[in-house]
Amino acid sequence: MSGQSIVLIGFMGTGKSSTGRVLARLTGLPRFDTDEMVSTRFGLPVSEIFAKFGEEKFRDAETEALAQLADGAPAIVVTGGGIVLRGENVKKLRALGRVVCLEADEETLFRRISRRATRPLLQTENPRATMVELLRVREPLYRGVADVRIDTSSVSHDEVADAILKSIGQL
Ligand code: S3P
Repeated sequence: MSGQSIVLIGFMGTGKSSTGRVLARLTGLPRFDTDEMVSTRFGLPVSEIFAKFGEEKFRDAETEALAQLADGAPAIVVTGGGIVLRGENVKKLRALGRVVCLEADEETLFRRISRRATRPLLQTENPRATMVELLRVREPLYRGVADVRIDTSSVSHDEVADAILKSIGQL
């Protein structure tokens, strides 16, 4: 039997971190965020890990952080947008529990992502084109692993959290 955690996946800017905080408050479950775990391990923000050690090292640490989580201990698990790129991660996400994919339309995503310059993958000459290309590659991966998909484009984090709990029968 698979785990009982609620696992949030989805592209940058879909609201995984904020929704994860609301879910932890509503359910009383502990929250684990793979970006935070990796950041703590290196003692650096994610953008500096990319700059100093490169994406591959970040991905290795991300896979290790995910692997540390216990399948049998219910939690709110928040992941980075690239977690679905490795097959071993996808297997682990499924083992942890219900996988919820947060989505938003392209316009909304770009507006949210542009608010902060902390996303290393989008520090390119044409961030919008880069975003569109990443979305094209990743959307099938997110959809392939998700048990539930929620459009966050025009709703608050509280509403997203409620919708998640309803859809998985915990509210
Ligand atoms: C990444 C998303 C980021 C972070 C890193 C790589 C990605 O997390 O893990 O910058 O590949 O999409 P968020 O999705 O929380 O922004």
